[in-house]
Amino acid sequence: MNIELKFDVSGVNWEKATDIFERAQLGTRQPDVCKRTFANSDLVCFAWDGKTLVGMGRALSDGERQSVIYDLCIMPEYQGKKIGNRMMTEMLERLDTPTTILWAVPGKESFYERLGFRPMLTAMARFEDPESSAAKGYIKL
Ligand SMILES: CC(C)(COP(=O)(O)OP(=O)(O)OC[C@H]1O[C@@H](n2cnc3c(N)ncnc32)[C@H](O)[C@@H]1OP(=O)(O)O)[C@@H](O)C(=O)NCCC(=O)NCCS
Repeated sequence: MNIELKFDVSGVNWEKATDIFERAQLGTRQPDVCKRTFANSDLVCFAWDGKTLVGMGRALSDGERQSVIYDLCIMPEYQGKKIGNRMMTEMLERLDTPTTILWAVPGKESFYERLGFRPMLTAMARFEDPESSAAKGYIKL
């Protein structure tokens, strides 16, 4: 398998992209909204198996001190093949900020620990629907 990483949105079919999010259990997204979130990000990363989109991720960065990684997601059939690790490593290299943060889906923390991430003790979030976020394991009410 020859997976190519690309750092631009060209060729992305956003219906297919949102399908990957759904199948990877990251929730339902609207293709046009998904497209804008990637277009408005400072760094995007897409994994391609030939013409098939198999993974994506994106980040916001101030280019100096801080960046935040969002939406890392690999198509289920392609998970466990080191694609996520490669995407993270390449994104971190390109972001090149002393601090990078992200929020892991509950249960995925050790994937990020292998890449040097550690749990934040004072991280705070203001969610639109706190009860739902608490039920998913993201916050304590
Ligand atoms: C989590 C995810 C991004 C990992 O990507 P991946 O390509 O499947 O993972 P890799 O093959 O690169 O794994 C790298 C290492 O992390 C480990 N790992 C992978 N998934 C893991 C998980 N869910 N929990 C703990 N460790 C995990 C692997 O065993 C591997 O360890 P090794 O280097 O000792 O062999 C991917 O499985 C995914 O998209 N999952 C569904 C969506 C999701 O939860 N995204 C994360 C949002 S925070």
